[in-house]
Amino acid sequence: MTHVNEPAMKAVLVVHGGAWAIPDSISVASVEGVKAAALSGFLVMKKGGTALDAVETAVKAMEDDPVFDAGHGAVLNTDGEVELDAIVMDGRTLAAGAVSSVRNIANPVTLARAVMEKTDHVMLTDRGANHFADSIGIPKVHTDALVTDDERKEWHRYKMYSLGVKDLFNSQWAHDTVGAVALDCYGNVACATSTGGIRNKMVGRVGDSPIIGCGGYADNHSGAVSCTGHGESIMKVTLASRVIFHMEQGKVPSEAVKSCLQYMGERVQGGGGVIAVARTGDWAAEFTTERMAWAAVDGEVLWYGLNPEEMFQEKLPQ
Ligand code: GLY
Repeated sequence: MTHVNEPAMKAVLVVHGGAWAIPDSISVASVEGVKAAALSGFLVMKKGGTALDAVETAVKAMEDDPVFDAGHGAVLNTDGEVELDAIVMDGRTLAAGAVSSVRNIANPVTLARAVMEKTDHVMLTDRGANHFADSIGIPKVHTDALVTDDERKEWHRYKMYSLGVKDLFNSQWAHDTVGAVALDCYGNVACATSTGGIRNKMVGRVGDSPIIGCGGYADNHSGAVSCTGHGESIMKVTLASRVIFHMEQGKVPSEAVKSCLQYMGERVQGGGGVIAVARTGDWAAEFTTERMAWAAVDGEVLWYGLNPEEMFQEKLPQ
């Protein structure tokens, strides 16, 4: 899926709700969720907000939607706990903030933004991230508040059959990540990515999502990228910065994303998905898994899809 923009600068926002074999039972909810998230983020820019504000808002909407593996709806680790990862990056300055393995936080993307804006660091992890959240008054939620009944049942099924991360790789039931990229009318780009990771991951396992250049990257000189898919594969090929590099070399986002996903498939046999926006406003949403729910707002049009080569459009609600 791709779109080539007019030369005039207009705001663009693209979101994904995770690249995996999304079952039919949640396909409609996944598409509705990404459409709502894209509209909420775009509205922020329409009211004068920045690309950074827009990606945070869009990702928060998906963290609050239990159909996605981020915030509410996150998958459980081997101990049956939620451990969340997130990143934000501001293409104006290359400032980035990330958190990994945080617990009891409903919106890790907001905590990641606070790491970027209120500390001298790029990433805080585990109890340090939670201490920081306490110190700036981010409210804690009870772990059970983030876990859905369906996830608890799936987790028990995995335990019963001793399924691990290897069995999840590209399987029907892997469950993965949300993200957003945006270009605002001032020419600034930003990205945000948030995840509960992969079900039955080891305690303390950190995937690609919070790692700069892997789960996301944003640079006003080229564009912004958010990734989803098998985290260990994405990290091995530093997928987000690889896509940025191809865009810097002059490839349009769809070409850059397709060739990097192909490389990841060939080099480390990993599947995934990428959304990208270039500084020109051209954007792409591509994946090598069975499905990826995605949506984009570009001018007056809301684009969306779920299956390969699928691209629907609607006029924006007034
Ligand atoms: N892509 C998310 C993860 O592997 O944790």
